[in-house]
Amino acid sequence: MSDLQREIRRRRTFAIISHPDAGKTTLTEKLLLYGGAIQLAGSVKGKAAARHAVSDWMELEKQRGISITSSVLQFEYDGYCINILDTPGHQDFSEDTYRTLMAADSAVMVIDAAKGIEPQTRKLFKVCAMRHIPIFTFINKMDRESRSPYDLMEELEKEFGIGTYPMNWPIGSGSDFKGIYDRERKEVLAYTQFHAGSRAIHATELGLDETDALSDMLGERLYATLRDDVELLDGAGYDFDRELVQSGDLSPVFFGSALMNFGVEQFLHSFLDLTTPPLPRLSQGEAVDPEKEPFSAFVFKIQANMNKAHRDRIAFMRICSGRFERDQEYLHVQSGKVIRLAQPQQMMAEERQIINEAYAGDIIGVFDPGIYSIGDTICTKEKRLCYEGIPTFAPEHFAAFERKDTMKRKQFETGIRQIAQEGAIQIFHEPNSGLEEVIVGVVGVLQFEVLEYRLKTEYSTEVRRRDLPYENIRWITSRTDPSTLLLTRDSKWVQDFKGNDLLLFGGEWNIPYCQKQNPGLELAEFSRQ
Ligand code: G4P
Repeated sequence: MSDLQREIRRRRTFAIISHPDAGKTTLTEKLLLYGGAIQLAGSVKGKAAARHAVSDWMELEKQRGISITSSVLQFEYDGYCINILDTPGHQDFSEDTYRTLMAADSAVMVIDAAKGIEPQTRKLFKVCAMRHIPIFTFINKMDRESRSPYDLMEELEKEFGIGTYPMNWPIGSGSDFKGIYDRERKEVLAYTQFHAGSRAIHATELGLDETDALSDMLGERLYATLRDDVELLDGAGYDFDRELVQSGDLSPVFFGSALMNFGVEQFLHSFLDLTTPPLPRLSQGEAVDPEKEPFSAFVFKIQANMNKAHRDRIAFMRICSGRFERDQEYLHVQSGKVIRLAQPQQMMAEERQIINEAYAGDIIGVFDPGIYSIGDTICTKEKRLCYEGIPTFAPEHFAAFERKDTMKRKQFETGIRQIAQEGAIQIFHEPNSGLEEVIVGVVGVLQFEVLEYRLKTEYSTEVRRRDLPYENIRWITSRTDPSTLLLTRDSKWVQDFKGNDLLLFGGEWNIPYCQKQNPGLELAEFSRQ
């Protein structure tokens, strides 16, 4: 095996997704602890807070004390090189969160055992399902009062329409949470002690038939329940199927407590074993083998103003094949320009570093002089590739923006267009209306504030915002003349700035109604262009 193959095969690149507060940060932190990337629990949040305080990145972010941006963490564990794509934890997440999933090879979905599936999990799951990437479920907070594990599994299957396979089973819950039963190794991991801040947890591994020891440790009642549960699960007769996991049709489910560090190590082991190294991705319909082809990557995120003094933009790329080398000349396919990436950066657990090389599966950030757009391909001059674009996701909140100062037309238009190019907002206009206002669509309402703030600070333009009552948007995919459509009062025809026709709706129910009123009208929820 060549060095290149070895490096690529040991890479695992995944995103952790959850509804806010389910425990994503806590789980990420525990994974980093196992990798030795951080020394103490609590440092992830601590570091993030410290970074906010010293960095100049977005006053707004500081003021609200939240993380608008998402980052990438890389660490080593057990011979693997792990890239975790972190997604914003705040309720007001943005399209970036969705796009991050485009760069991942699998996803870990963290669910709060007391709450089950929550709205944000639902949205993120849809995107994972669209890509058919493996989805691993970690049902967290078993140390609190929680819903029945059977109930939770059923909810996942019903709502998401995928199979589930419990890899372990919880023993008790709440203050009675004693540990987990590892179904593969057929043994009980009973935790007798924990230190949230260290990786040393004291688990006693016992076979299910070690009756006396287990009765002692778990108590008669929990031991009896466990035996019944195991009999029921094994009797259900589902076979574990690796292929179904890898095609995203079967989600391995793990129960545990990230805070108490129960079940986290077992999860990490199984996960690393089951998830895949970087897989081929499509370039103009053809699969690009990560090991055989030279360097190629696509841009999935652009972040402006990491440092306000320099007005810089960083483009984040996911490497899809080969090895990246610093200072080499590469081709930016969309502009046809040859570029030299002189200061590629990578986020390690705690800080940004300049790197000299990186491999398929890795994420690098490069300085963007304003040439990159989301979805662009970078590759070698010799082997020209062009990855499929990243879909545009449907925004859910809409507002009309107009400038307060009529003289500021140019700044307003440039600003709003540039910010839209970064992909934080989508912009539309109403055809034939004669209005100068721009309709802005966002995935999370916080983006409206970010937009107002950035127009003011970066483009010296004050704006007026009028919230619009629409909640859904669909791309018109049929050959329909939109001006002839029969629309209700709470629907509207708009165009994006590439001239694509779209419809805005006041509510979900409006969509099938509109299609009924206009036979032949075809609508899409994501747009690939
Ligand atoms: P998020 O990134 O998904 O938003 O969630 P985060 O990890 O920040 O966790 C949200 C809250 O839930 C935190 O408490 C955290 O300590 C707690 N938590 C996470 N995992 C577990 C678990 O397994 N069991 C229990 N009981 N709690 C858990 P907080 O009080 O909001 O924050 P903090 O003051 O502890 O930082």
